[in-house]
Amino acid sequence: MNRQEALESIRENVENENLVKHMLATEAIMCALARHLGEDEPEWALAGLLHDIDVELTAGDMSSHSKLGADLARDMGASEGVANAILCHNEAHGILPETTMAKALICADPLTGLITAAVLVRPDKKIAGLEASSVRKRFKEKSFAAGASREQIARCTDIGLELDEFLNIGLEAMKGIAPQLGL
Ligand SMILES: [Fe+2]
Repeated sequence: MNRQEALESIRENVENENLVKHMLATEAIMCALARHLGEDEPEWALAGLLHDIDVELTAGDMSSHSKLGADLARDMGASEGVANAILCHNEAHGILPETTMAKALICADPLTGLITAAVLVRPDKKIAGLEASSVRKRFKEKSFAAGASREQIARCTDIGLELDEFLNIGLEAMKGIAPQLGL
């Protein structure tokens, strides 16, 4: 499946624009991580783009969230690796991520929320002027954007990245699609 088909499916299944933006941000970070690590960029990007496609369909049922998403991705022709990464990203299933792509999705997913929150408290609400050092400060403030799991973000070490490097890659990736993110 190609990116256009994935986007069309997202448009069919997701109404919340912020959720769409979250998936676009995750796509950008996953793509940047794949590039940095010499992995398959389109595959990693697709896993990021589709990972929350079932959030509205599952309506808060964490026992089905990501299982349905993995099935939808598979039905659309995504690879087993992409489907597996989507499945594993909901830790409620207790399925440990084994591939590097699945491990990357675990840490990329919450980073989008932390960075977005760090942008929105800026007077200009623009990502362009946000520096990685500010993101790191926000990372250490446990009460700031508390929903962005620091434990998950810190698992960037599972894919061989130090936290600072990971925050920097994520920030630059999101800056690269700032207009699409409205940031
Ligand atoms: Fe997500």
